[in-house]
Amino acid sequence: MALVLYRKYRPASFKDVVGQEHVVRTLTSAIAANDFAHSYLFTGPRGTGKTTLARLIAKSLNCQNRKNGEYEPCNKCVSCDEIARGVAIDLIEIDAASNRGIDEIRALKEGIRFGPTHSKYKVFIVDEVHMLTKEAFNALLKTLEEPPAHAVFVLATTEIQKVLPTIVSRSQRFDFRRLRHGEIKKRLEALAKREEKSVEPRILDVISTKADGSIRDAESMLGQIFALGNEATMEDIEFLLGAVDLGTLHALFEHLAAGKKPEIFTLMNAIKEQGADLEEFLRHLLRYVRWMMNSRIADRNGDGRADGA
Ligand SMILES: Nc1ncnc2c1ncn2[C@@H]1O[C@H](COP(=O)(O)OP(=O)(O)OP(=O)(O)O)[C@@H](O)[C@H]1O
Ligand SMILES: [Mg+2]
Ligand SMILES: [Zn+2]
Repeated sequence: MALVLYRKYRPASFKDVVGQEHVVRTLTSAIAANDFAHSYLFTGPRGTGKTTLARLIAKSLNCQNRKNGEYEPCNKCVSCDEIARGVAIDLIEIDAASNRGIDEIRALKEGIRFGPTHSKYKVFIVDEVHMLTKEAFNALLKTLEEPPAHAVFVLATTEIQKVLPTIVSRSQRFDFRRLRHGEIKKRLEALAKREEKSVEPRILDVISTKADGSIRDAESMLGQIFALGNEATMEDIEFLLGAVDLGTLHALFEHLAAGKKPEIFTLMNAIKEQGADLEEFLRHLLRYVRWMMNSRIADRNGDGRADGA
């Protein structure tokens, strides 16, 4: 069974969050000063820490051992423990993607009138908030106009342009960024160490590149590698990760540039027959094109730099 590393290692403290420095800094000082917003909007690519930080806010605000001026949750009290186990009743998580929200928002509106059951704050996390129906949006908006003092909202989205401006303007917005290759690799090294596994650095390099800024994706790939055991070769890994070989990418690129339609068609069919994920393949192709363009520009500038960043 593949290890689900990204569940096992979800950061339990602010200090364990990788990157997103500006978000962490602003949130932690607001919590320490007991002067935090009642509606946050987290936006950014998938797997970069939005839900993680939303839960950390809930944990910290409701931690029974946290003193004035501090921001880290203790991770020992009943409240911290319930949040870690996903059973805290005063932390309400709504996934707008799987349920377009109207019932949930109605329940939220009703729930919000009552104070928290046995904590200081009721924290509502609305994931993929851009997916809410118009009615649900409006209901949420009404709630955000006059949130009761015991309520804190964290709205998260990967598509900020689809969130109503009125929601955006009523929240404190934080933009999460893709994590850098080096940051991801370092995190993977640390996880491998904690799992007492050794993984070749070049494998970690491949994963960190393929993750394209998402720590979650990187962690789930690492879990798959662990599941292969110690015998995994670089070939296994490329296959497992769906990495496409450069030769195929280059051939397709040439055909595209030359507008050779039949060749493009034949090659795409061959790729599909090999069982490759076409969307994945196209992402690789885009990266390849970007890389080619970069190296051309670098050649022209004569600085020899050809990174695909
Ligand atoms: N900045 C980060 N620092 C450390 N670990 C992270 C970070 N971002 C993501 N992770 C890892 O990835 C997992 C998933 O992250 P999280 O749920 O916070 O992503 P998200 O931004 O909410 O993504 P989505 O948009 O898909 O909901 C975490 O459990 C953690 O293991
Ligand atoms: Mg999330
Ligand atoms: Zn605690």
